[in-house]
Amino acid sequence: MKKIVVLATGGTIAGASASAADGVAYRAGEVPVGALLEQVPGLQQLLGDCALAAEQVAQVNSKDMDYALWQRLALRCTHWLAQDDVQGLVITHGTDTLEETAWFLQRMLDVAASAGVLRAEQARKPVVLSSAMRPSTARLSDGPQNLADAVSVLLDSRASGVLAVAAGHVHAACDVHKVQPYRVDAFSSGDAGVLAHVEEGAVRWLRDPAARVGEADDLATAAPAQALWTAVQDEETQWPWVEILVSHAGNDGRSLGACRQAGVQGVVLAGSGNATLHEQVEQAACALMQQGVPVWRSSRCLEGRAVPGAESPVPLAVCRGQVLRPVQARTEMVLQLLAGVLPAEAATAKTSA
Ligand code: SIN
Repeated sequence: MKKIVVLATGGTIAGASASAADGVAYRAGEVPVGALLEQVPGLQQLLGDCALAAEQVAQVNSKDMDYALWQRLALRCTHWLAQDDVQGLVITHGTDTLEETAWFLQRMLDVAASAGVLRAEQARKPVVLSSAMRPSTARLSDGPQNLADAVSVLLDSRASGVLAVAAGHVHAACDVHKVQPYRVDAFSSGDAGVLAHVEEGAVRWLRDPAARVGEADDLATAAPAQALWTAVQDEETQWPWVEILVSHAGNDGRSLGACRQAGVQGVVLAGSGNATLHEQVEQAACALMQQGVPVWRSSRCLEGRAVPGAESPVPLAVCRGQVLRPVQARTEMVLQLLAGVLPAEAATAKTSA
């Protein structure tokens, strides 16, 4: 019998407030996963002969997400995905940092097969992040519908990789980003568009979730993949300090210098427009790179992605042929530093993509 496993981490989907009318002053990460699943009408019918297991991995507001929880989550994912009867995973998660966890997990699964942790087909099983913008006690909570939709996506034979399902839309981990602080339809996939819509339990795919962008992947070769998994398994791992700094009017690069003084190990610059940097920020970035600190640039624009081609000594944050958004780029740089893909010398040698 096939099985779906729900890994719960907290968030508004597990939030509770004193009044059903209150959609803002609530505590995230309060309601246990068993109670959340009981709130989903028709769940048994939806599952058919598929079994359901649930595990409370954490109970946090995702604004407080940390590396220790990421480590635990990655290990619980591989534990379950390695089991042949497991069809896929649902992860309940807060919306605030969902896009960071989505990218982290996607990259960990990308390397799992190279590291010998999973077989290729196990690493491609669907992992669906499910969230809500209203707490579970709200008079119209969006959590139960989002959970039901997550299960529908998992049961669809085309589902693959790390996905986020919210408000009837299916997003890829590489595209999803939160664009709304309050409205229920809080996520966008930008120019790429959503992967699919979930309509009355049916998944209408617009794009192939298994399609890969670009070919080269520095992390997914044996040695870096092994190094990354060794680091992620070790509770004592010192995660590198990588900061996101914004290029803005009146910027004189002092924040870069201050971070360096304080020991920063990598910086992602959220540039204006097409990832452009204030000239003083660019100078400060070059000084950091000369000291062996990797610096990448991306765009602070909310939609679209920076287009390669413009001259800059600071490299674009490119992964598998795609320029990453700042928060994904930060996660990517952390992983590349942990994996040893990004030694300081290599970062200084890179030029504009
Ligand atoms: C959180 O991210 O845990 C709180 C906010 C939310 O889930 O919408």
